[in-house]
Amino acid sequence: MVKSERLLSTSTPSMKLSLNETHLMNCIDGMQLMDEESVDLVVTSPPYDDLRTYNDSSKWDHEVFKSVADNLTRVLKTGGVIMWNVNDSTVKGSETGSSFRQCLYFMDQCGLKLHDTMIYEKTGTAFASGPKSVRYTQIFEYCFILSKGKPKTINLIQDKKNAWAGYTSFGNAKTRKKDGTMNDPGKKSKVIREYGVRTNIWKIKNSGGFGQSSKASYKHPATMPEELARGHVLTWSDVNDTILDPFMGAGTTAQVCLEENRNFIGFEIDETYHQMCMERVLPWTDNVFTRLS
Ligand SMILES: C[S@@+](CC[C@H](N)C(=O)[O-])C[C@H]1O[C@@H](n2cnc3c(N)ncnc32)[C@H](O)[C@@H]1O
Repeated sequence: MVKSERLLSTSTPSMKLSLNETHLMNCIDGMQLMDEESVDLVVTSPPYDDLRTYNDSSKWDHEVFKSVADNLTRVLKTGGVIMWNVNDSTVKGSETGSSFRQCLYFMDQCGLKLHDTMIYEKTGTAFASGPKSVRYTQIFEYCFILSKGKPKTINLIQDKKNAWAGYTSFGNAKTRKKDGTMNDPGKKSKVIREYGVRTNIWKIKNSGGFGQSSKASYKHPATMPEELARGHVLTWSDVNDTILDPFMGAGTTAQVCLEENRNFIGFEIDETYHQMCMERVLPWTDNVFTRLS
């Protein structure tokens, strides 16, 4: 694992909580210790309905969600973004629609803008549909991109291979004269670049280790693939920005922030998961403490 060469910032978005640390506490209490407008980006995957019990350490329903959403909105800087990665459970044959209800609460009650509805498409699923199933194989999750005003940072990732890379595009002037030569393409002709901007559907490997490079995280029941977190960190933040994950779990967001030279602050309510997260970031935090001593 590559250690970050950066000396991590220990200045904090609050006098009461240290930065580049996941705090073992309820995120609602934690966010109340943070200053208003102190976070550039939130990258998080909250509990989805009651799909997992998470050692029964926490409670999750729409009332708890509302409190989380209100606090996230308060600590988010103007121009900051929330990446809210969610999915719904199916109850008595129908999807709950909690994801949409949450998204609309952020928009209607918190005043955030829905910048984009993105899809995380999985490469593998535990429950493939068969001929007798009543719906198609569930293979995606939502990533709602919510912003406080206009997003202040947008670095679109350009890694979609262009089918016509290397060929010349003549723009609109692609007609020929009678003798076969091209009409003057003028300044509009250009060689097509090798890569273009990706679409808003991201197909990400979640099988073979759940998209994790860290073995420490395997025991967590619902991790976010590192590449999903990394794509959003790179798109919606700059180096040295501060990123919050209120539901840190086994520390995926923390690891990605350390690798990409961003500061992070996190909360995790369950002691076992918090311990996983602490072990996972040791290679980097070790480095910081060595440098500080
Ligand atoms: C979907 S998991 C997040 C996984 C994480 N993205 C990762 O990759 O490891 C949700 C996590 O939120 C934690 N949690 C639930 N309610 C919480 C709360 N009120 N405050 C802090 N953590 C909470 C759970 O214990 C669980 O680890």
